Amino acid sequence: MKHSETQKFALAAIALALVSGVAYAQTTKLDLGKQEYLENCAVCHAPSGKGGGPYVDFLRKSPPDLTQLTKTNGGVFPVNRVYETIEGANVPSHGSRDMPIWGQDYRIKAAEYYVDVPYDPEPYVRARILTLLEYINRLQER
Ligand code: HEC
Repeated sequence: MKHSETQKFALAAIALALVSGVAYAQTTKLDLGKQEYLENCAVCHAPSGKGGGPYVDFLRKSPPDLTQLTKTNGGVFPVNRVYETIEGANVPSHGSRDMPIWGQDYRIKAAEYYVDVPYDPEPYVRARILTLLEYINRLQER
């Protein structure tokens, strides 16, 4: 093999390694928002977000279709409203809604996670809610 051919071969090998590396990363990438949604929300809102999850028979109110939030808000994803709904901040009387208050739930999880060390639960709560927001934004039908 001539010198330049060796170089070409090496480049091709590197390119191949990069491409297969990218493919590997894509197949194993964690989708935290999706995981969080499927674990905590799909029982009521269904995996699709359209409502009618297996839990709805036990609810007084049927869960709204989460894929229409942008459409019914003039084409803009209602970030604050959704954040506050999930966090529970805009609920006047706790426990009167059919939807659990996730801010509290995540605060308890943070306390369990950081047992003996000083911690601030708020960034933990915020991060979990934001991953959900990002995922629900992806569910929007335009
Ligand atoms: C026990 C059933 C239940 C679970 C679990 C649940 N929801 Fe809900 N959700 C509801 C119901 C019912 C409503 C309608 C409002 C109400 O009565 O509280 C609602 C309303 C909402 C809304 C308000 C939509 C709007 O138009 O503003 C959002 C956003 C939402 N849920 C997101 C979530 C997310 C994210 C999760 C998971 C972290 C979740 N829900 C888990 C039952 C549930």
